[in-house]
Amino acid sequence: MAKKETVFFCQQCGYESPKWMGQCPACKEWNSFVEETVKSEKGKKVKAIDNAAKIVSINAVEGLDNARVKTGIGEFDRVLGGGLVNGSLVLIGGDPGIGKSTILLQVCRNLANCGKKVLYISGEESVQQIKLRADRLGAFTDDLSLACETSLTSIENMIENNKPQFVVIDSIQTMYGEDVNSAPGSVSQVREATNTFLRIAKSLDITIFLVGHVTKEGAVAGPRVLEHMVDTVLYFEGDRHASYRILRGVKNRFGSTNEIGVFEMRDTGLREVENPSEFMIEGKPKDSSGSVIACSMEGTRPILLEVQALVCNSNLAIPRRTTVGADINRVNQLMAVLEKRAGFNMFNCDAYVNIAGGIRMNEPAIDLGIALAIISSYKDKPIDDKTICFGEIGLSGEVRSVSMAEQRVKEAKKLGFTTCIMPAINLKSMAEDKEIKLIGIESVKELSRFLS
Ligand code: TYD
Ligand code: MG
Repeated sequence: MAKKETVFFCQQCGYESPKWMGQCPACKEWNSFVEETVKSEKGKKVKAIDNAAKIVSINAVEGLDNARVKTGIGEFDRVLGGGLVNGSLVLIGGDPGIGKSTILLQVCRNLANCGKKVLYISGEESVQQIKLRADRLGAFTDDLSLACETSLTSIENMIENNKPQFVVIDSIQTMYGEDVNSAPGSVSQVREATNTFLRIAKSLDITIFLVGHVTKEGAVAGPRVLEHMVDTVLYFEGDRHASYRILRGVKNRFGSTNEIGVFEMRDTGLREVENPSEFMIEGKPKDSSGSVIACSMEGTRPILLEVQALVCNSNLAIPRRTTVGADINRVNQLMAVLEKRAGFNMFNCDAYVNIAGGIRMNEPAIDLGIALAIISSYKDKPIDDKTICFGEIGLSGEVRSVSMAEQRVKEAKKLGFTTCIMPAINLKSMAEDKEIKLIGIESVKELSRFLS
């Protein structure tokens, strides 16, 4: 009898090793190696290439843009770069219960309502359970079919017989290939399943959505190669206990990756939030110190957000610095700059910085907002409620220019703000505005004059 070939895979990153190891040399995770049987490739005949690759001139290739299919959910289309491209593989990751199945069922509903043939395959829920969820979302047409299946061979047959234009696989970690001997969700199985769906999507020119579970670090569980194989990777984020959800594109072969879509979870499913700025700054306390409105760009869309800071005397030898939604290293750096370049001595202060609404923002343009919130809390003096700010802060305390200043000012005007604190360099190239007072600053030294 032929000896079974086994190798060890790191379940975190997919690193392959012939021997068991305590720590993965690639991702440094401990105890992540699991033995898996691999298919023997020996003796397998290489399939003859029947349609040899053709060389074509770039101008002779027909564009795909007109072929984009709208899902009927504007925010979802925005993240996809304007709609779905035929024959693509879309991976949606996110924490359990965040709404992955819900949004895909809504997308399926819209596509089916437009006469498209859709197949929803679930390995996690029974068809009755899917129906129960569907009842909350509205009426469905007969073009949407459901199936409860985990075997890759059966699914392949199902797709070939049913000939759907769109398929949802919920989730990739439950799928099982018979010729791979490891458990569903293991690296080899996930890789095999993704490969199968990739082949189906490209050969039949259908769009397949894959739902991916995430690890505790927030990455899609399974090998990194999963993200490389698919065309588009979207992450659903947001606090499960709050009602809003953010869909973020992290990889997109057919569009920009910076776009986000904002949704609100209602009892009738996810609803789009068309003006996220309004949503983000809702409930800002009035005349309170340590609260500032900043403006960040997410792709092509400006989003206003409230930066909150609380600076208080510390009883600890090493003061506590905590952030939610902002980068902690950035906050530490900004506090050091404020101390050295503007004379705010906060070395013995605890500092807590929070981007209200639980949204994660790492754009340097919110530096000015964070700095203003910190000094406002430190001095316990509020910043005018109708003021917004944006700008990057350098280590010398200089306020550096940011991109798309006009769009940011326009968004602030739209929401009724009357003053905008911005980098002086950006102001030079902008015309004066009657509706909003634009104040250009060059250094963090000028910040204290905005405290009222
Ligand atoms: P679900 O889509 O099942 O999450 P995932 O597939 O990402 O694990 O998440 C559903 C959650 O949303 C669940 O906690 C219930 C809630 N929900 C609503 O609030 N309203 C609704 O209309 C639906 C369908 C779900
Ligand atoms: Mg689900």
